[in-house]
Amino acid sequence: MPDTLTDPRDRPATGDPGSWWRQAAVYQIYPRSFADANGDGIGDLAGITERIGYLRDLGIDAVWLSPFYPSALADGGYDVDDYRDVDPRLGTLADFDSMTSALHAANIKLIVDIVPNHTSDRHEWFREALASPRGSSARNRYIFRDGLGVDGSLPPADWVSAFGGPAWEPVGDGQWYLHYFATEQPDLNWKNPEVREDFLKTLRFWSDRGVDGFRVDVAHGCAKELPEVLPSQAELDALDATTGQHPLWDRDEVHEIYAEWRSVFNEYSPPRTAVAEAWVATPDRRHRYASIDGLGQAFNFDLLEADFDAASFRGIITSNLAQSARTGSSTTWVFSNHDVVRHATRYALPPRGSSTEKQGASWLLTGGTAPVLDIEGGLRRARAATLLMLGLPGSAYLYQGEELGLQEVADIPDAERQDPSFFRNPGVDVGRDGCRVPLPWKRSGPSFGFGATGAHLPQPGWFSDFSVEAEEDDTTSTLAFYRQALALRKDLQTVESLEWIDSDETVLHYVRPGGWSVVANFGTRDAPLPAGEVLIASSPVGEGRLPSETAVWLKTPSAQGSRLRSSGRCRRSTPGSRHRRPRRY
Ligand code: NOJ
Ligand code: CA
Repeated sequence: MPDTLTDPRDRPATGDPGSWWRQAAVYQIYPRSFADANGDGIGDLAGITERIGYLRDLGIDAVWLSPFYPSALADGGYDVDDYRDVDPRLGTLADFDSMTSALHAANIKLIVDIVPNHTSDRHEWFREALASPRGSSARNRYIFRDGLGVDGSLPPADWVSAFGGPAWEPVGDGQWYLHYFATEQPDLNWKNPEVREDFLKTLRFWSDRGVDGFRVDVAHGCAKELPEVLPSQAELDALDATTGQHPLWDRDEVHEIYAEWRSVFNEYSPPRTAVAEAWVATPDRRHRYASIDGLGQAFNFDLLEADFDAASFRGIITSNLAQSARTGSSTTWVFSNHDVVRHATRYALPPRGSSTEKQGASWLLTGGTAPVLDIEGGLRRARAATLLMLGLPGSAYLYQGEELGLQEVADIPDAERQDPSFFRNPGVDVGRDGCRVPLPWKRSGPSFGFGATGAHLPQPGWFSDFSVEAEEDDTTSTLAFYRQALALRKDLQTVESLEWIDSDETVLHYVRPGGWSVVANFGTRDAPLPAGEVLIASSPVGEGRLPSETAVWLKTPSAQGSRLRSSGRCRRSTPGSRHRRPRRY
C-alpha cells in the first residue's frame, strides 16, 4: 500500500459532466416512507416531487431511490414483479417522468435501485417456471434442483437464507428453487442469456427515461456455479471467499456481466453511473466492482461497521482512499441506510465491555424502549462522525432522516412489523423496520405531515421534536447542520486527496487541498483546537478548545505544515469504543 493518500490523478471535483458522481452527496429515499401525496399511508413518487424544494435546500447532488417497482412487498420492494414499471400504489410511469424532470430542474441527479440477483415470485418468469415442467427453458431462468430422498421431499442442501430459515423451497413436483433471501425472492440464473439480455433492456429503459445511474443490489451474488453435489452450509461457510471461485459469492466471472452493463452505460452522454452493493471478503475484492470498466463505484461499508474510534476511522479512510486510487474510481462513505440501525442510535448504545452492553444488544435485537440509550451522546457522536466523513474525498451516501438526527424506532409492535427478517427469526431479530418509519415533516397531525392520514409503520410521539417543521428554523438543529455542511462541501471540494496531520491519539486531523482542514476529537476530554477559522462544528466549540466527540472544519492558515503519517494505521479499537456490527444483506 502506498505511503501517501494523495490520489495521483488529482481529479477536479467539477468541470467534467461525466464525473459528477465522484464526490457527490447522494441522498437515499426509501419511497414508501418519504412522503405520501395521496393520503393512503404509503409514500409515493408524487410525494417526492412535492418535496424537491426540501431536497434542493438540503444541498444534495443526487437521489438514490430504493425500489419503486410493482411488488408484493415481501422484502420492502426488493422483491420485484416487473423491472420496467412503477408500483401502482406509488404512482405511474408518468409520475416517474415528472419526478425525474423536477429533480433535474433542481440540479439533482437520479440513481435507481436495480435488483438483479432475484426477482419476486410474482414475476411473469417465475409464474411461467412454476407452470412449466422440470428441465424446461422457463425453469432454466432460475436455479432449480431436484430434492433429495426417494420422492425429492428433502431439500437439495441445508443452506440457510440471509433472512434466516431454509434457502431452498419445494415446488411440489420434487424440484426446489434457490432463494438466498426471502421465499418470495427466487434467485435468477445469470448463465441464461435471456436473463442477461433482459437486464440490458431494463438498464436502457430507465436510462432512456433520464435516469443518471443505478445502485446494484447484491452485485456480488449474480454469478453462481453450483457443483453437481451441493456442499453443506458448513462446507460453504468454510470456503475461502477471496479466490473468486466460491459457488455463490463474488465469483470472478460476475465482472463479465458488469463489463456488458458498462458498455450500455457508455452508450449515453454523460455515461450512466453505477454503485455496487457488494459484500465481499476483502477491500481488494470490493474494488473490482468499482473498476471503471465495470460498475464504476462500490459501497464501502467499513465506517458503518466501525467503532466510534479514531484509529479505526483513520485505518479505514487510509485503506479505502488507497484502493480507489488503484482502480481509478472514487470511494464511497456511508453510515446509515435502510438495512441498518440508524447511526445516531448505534452510537447511543452502551460501550463495548461495559456492564450495560448486553442490555443494549438485547434492546437492538428484541425492540423495546431503552433506558440504556445515551440519546444525546449518540447524536453528538453521529454528528461528529458525519462531519468528519463529509470532509473526505469521495461520495457521501446519506439516508433519509439522518439529516433530522432521527433515532431508530425500536418499539414497533410485532403485529405491525413488515421485515421478513423479523418473521424468519422469531424472538431473535426484530429486523429493519425501525429505520424505515415514515419521516416526520410536521410537529403534529395524523402522521406528522407524512400524509393526510396515517403511516404504514407507526411513528412514535418523539418524532414531533425531530420533524422538519421543528428543525427548520432552529439554527442549532441537525437539519441546519447538514444543510450548512453540504453547502460548504460543495464550495470546498476540489481534487480528491488529503493529507494527515500528526495529532493526539484520539484526534484525527486532515488537510484538504484549497486550504481547509477537518479535525475530529473522538476522546472523552477536550483537546487543543488547531489554528484557523471554524467554518462549521458538529457541537459548540469554545475558544481554542475542541470538545470531546466533536468535529470541525477549519479554514487553514497557509503557513500550516502538513506531513503524512506513515502506515500502521489500523490500530486496535480502544476499550470503551462503541461497536455495532450491523447485519450484512
Ligand atoms: C440488499 C438490500 O439493501 C436489502 O434491503 C434487501 O433485503 C436485500 N439486498 C435483498 O434484495
Ligand atoms: Ca400514497
